[in-house]
Amino acid sequence: MKFISVRLHIWRNTHWEDFTVQVSSEAYVLDALEAASEQDKSLLFRHACHHASCGSCGLRINGRERLACITPVKDVINTLGMIRLEPLRNFPLIGDLLVDFKPFMQQLDRIDLPLRRSAELLSKEINIDSFKRVFNKAALDIPEISPGFNRLENCIECGLCVSACPIAGTDILYSGPACLAAVGRVLSEPRHRSVMDIIELVDNEHGLWRCHAAFECSEVCPAGVDPAREILALRSHILRNNFKS
Ligand code: SF4
Ligand code: FES
Repeated sequence: MKFISVRLHIWRNTHWEDFTVQVSSEAYVLDALEAASEQDKSLLFRHACHHASCGSCGLRINGRERLACITPVKDVINTLGMIRLEPLRNFPLIGDLLVDFKPFMQQLDRIDLPLRRSAELLSKEINIDSFKRVFNKAALDIPEISPGFNRLENCIECGLCVSACPIAGTDILYSGPACLAAVGRVLSEPRHRSVMDIIELVDNEHGLWRCHAAFECSEVCPAGVDPAREILALRSHILRNNFKS
């Protein structure tokens, strides 16, 4: 196995600190961080699953939001052998690379996503007809109205979209991309919930209408949720209904 030397340039609350670690050439950024934490146990960062499902290891790697556990070192190391690591933006900072997800989770709790399925699908976009042929439509309760859909339950609640969003940093009350995408998801599959009640939560200046459609959220989302598209679809749904009434 080939080993490489990596210099992690890490923001530590008030200053940058460098850690030089040796990792496999096939290592991920999280592996390098774990090696750094062997040198300084006080280094704060979060992780759990190591395979892009828990959503806990989000960082800004060289200025871009990514999951450390699936970002290969070789993809982000520069010619000087360095990788820059910072905490996610637009979250309260706990320390070093660790941010507080509580406000983010509270926003998602307001929507209370109703949907969990055991069937896991590999593609981001699903053709609903072929889907119905393969799976038992009745058991999965797929709505007839959707020509295709993005599965918001793909959302791993990593917060990368919130960090990348240029609006989230300017409005502390902003619902944020993940929360707005969750509303869009409920709309396409209400499951006996009051759609109007849920839309009311975000049909205001700190919700749906605050988004400037920068598409940064969709750009960084590691799970193919495409929050920007959900937000635009939700807007057009509300405008259409308002126009009709
Ligand atoms: S929408 Fe995407 S980027 Fe945002 S929290 Fe969910 S998985 Fe992460
Ligand atoms: S450690 Fe779970 S998503 Fe990265």
